Amino acid sequence: MIGGRAPLLLLALLPLVQSSAAVRAAFIAPSPTTASSSSARRELITSTTPSSSSSSSPPSSLASSPTMGKARIGRKRMDAAVIVRLNARPQSRSRHVQGNMLGRRTINDFETTLPPRWESSLEAAIAAAMHAPNHRRTEPWRFYLLGEKSRGRVCALNAELVASSRGEEAGREKFRRWMCIPGWLVVTCVKKVGDGDGGGWDMADPTGTAREDYAACCCAVQNLCLSLHSRGIGTKWTTGAVNFDGRFADAVGFRTDEEYTVGTIWFGTPLRTPSPPVKKLGLEDVLTRVD
Ligand SMILES: Cc1cc2nc3c(=O)[nH]c(=O)nc-3n(C[C@H](O)[C@H](O)[C@H](O)COP(=O)(O)O)c2cc1C
Repeated sequence: MIGGRAPLLLLALLPLVQSSAAVRAAFIAPSPTTASSSSARRELITSTTPSSSSSSSPPSSLASSPTMGKARIGRKRMDAAVIVRLNARPQSRSRHVQGNMLGRRTINDFETTLPPRWESSLEAAIAAAMHAPNHRRTEPWRFYLLGEKSRGRVCALNAELVASSRGEEAGREKFRRWMCIPGWLVVTCVKKVGDGDGGGWDMADPTGTAREDYAACCCAVQNLCLSLHSRGIGTKWTTGAVNFDGRFADAVGFRTDEEYTVGTIWFGTPLRTPSPPVKKLGLEDVLTRVD
């Protein structure tokens, strides 16, 4: 229950809260409820379509989402002044960023409905993904936000693959489980962009475009996951056999001669967060100081 003085206090704090909106929008906002309505966030997100702010959207709402299909993040440059503002106060930023990175976990169990304003969080996360380091600036990442139909097609395909290797009942069980996952984002890497500027399309070539574009896409996925995590949305990066079956590309809507899957990113409100994995190696095992 809010006491009698609380509304006055909130009014007094409002300008303060508003002036720090840009910082909160810098993907360090720990609360999913604080970041969605900030105007600074809208400066960051260059979506050409307004995002829905419906609360507690059920999974099926993905199908009618205005951002369904290819994510519609525009090409507008992020305002340099906004980036400068977001990078203010390096000490406290460092604490938040480090905490956010160490606290992210792969989530296995999600609530069945997406949290309020999930779309604006997802758009912010895709904006973060698009700012991943990227040699030759090929911008090789593409994002597919799956709606009800495409999700159903992917789940059915996966069930078929599971059934053929582990039996009908295993396939049905997998289908049931996958259909409960509320958020689906497929990230692909475009093949051959950047060819002709020094990089060949050969994964075996360590300086070729193929390997560097895949590396950039992996950085993009991590940016995306960290951004969502900072807003209370958990993720799981998955790369099962289904992702590399030609029918998966058909179900999602991309061409295998143009793009390949980097991962399916499941997202939603975590039902529980696993403990951090026990690391086999310590700093001394992985860090060699070279004179
Ligand atoms: C490229 C890639 C693919 C992954 N694919 C799967 C997967 O198919 N299934 C799965 O359970 N986890 C998958 N993961 C998540 C890892 O299992 C997870 O990151 C690892 O267990 C460490 O846990 P943490 O993310 O909580 O630190 C994948 C991670 C990466 C980077």
